[in-house]
Amino acid sequence: MRLRYTLKGIEATNVLGNCLSTVLGPGNIFLLSGDLGAGKTSLTKAIASGLGVEEKEVTSPSFAIIHEHLNGRLPLIHVDLYRLGPLADITEIGLEDYFDGKNVVIIEWAEYLKDPLVETALKIDLSFFDEQSREVCLTGKTGIWRERLLLLDDCMKASKV
Ligand SMILES: Nc1ncnc2c1ncn2[C@@H]1O[C@H](COP(=O)(O)OP(=O)(O)OP(=O)(O)O)[C@@H](O)[C@H]1O
Ligand SMILES: [Mg+2]
Repeated sequence: MRLRYTLKGIEATNVLGNCLSTVLGPGNIFLLSGDLGAGKTSLTKAIASGLGVEEKEVTSPSFAIIHEHLNGRLPLIHVDLYRLGPLADITEIGLEDYFDGKNVVIIEWAEYLKDPLVETALKIDLSFFDEQSREVCLTGKTGIWRERLLLLDDCMKASKV
């Protein structure tokens, strides 16, 4: 199943993150991709805030590629592969250990992954629409995402985004 939205302003990105935080569950993996500055970190912050993680803590992992946020409703692992560049190897960076069915794992620059990750991940592609807005496409292949994406769409409609 696939959903698309135009996100008019950062407020709309925040609404999407908040809605995602209400439908996600333990073990969910999010693969974020899109242009420089398309809003991947902003969306991650909004998801984190919805999970009750202190928002100021969430920054693009710069030296550490992986940041753990353990003080929210679910453990959140934030990964940014930008500095690794193409062909990033999840085993080499020790990412596999986090796929334990409990952590929520958000990966920025997921297009840099050497091997396409688990089929059960939700792909989130962000792109520039114009300076004031972004487009987002969310694709979940497996059955678990159908139900969740329907709930997400209800949440987005209720928020009038
Ligand atoms: N829907 C939106 N409309 C307009 N501006 C937005 C929207 N979402 C985010 N932004 C703005 O875009 C800028 C870049 O956002 P952000 O750092 O989240 O992008 P990024 O994809 O993580 O970038 P990078 O590729 O460098 O990691 C920020 O100033 C943010 O406020
Ligand atoms: Mg970023």
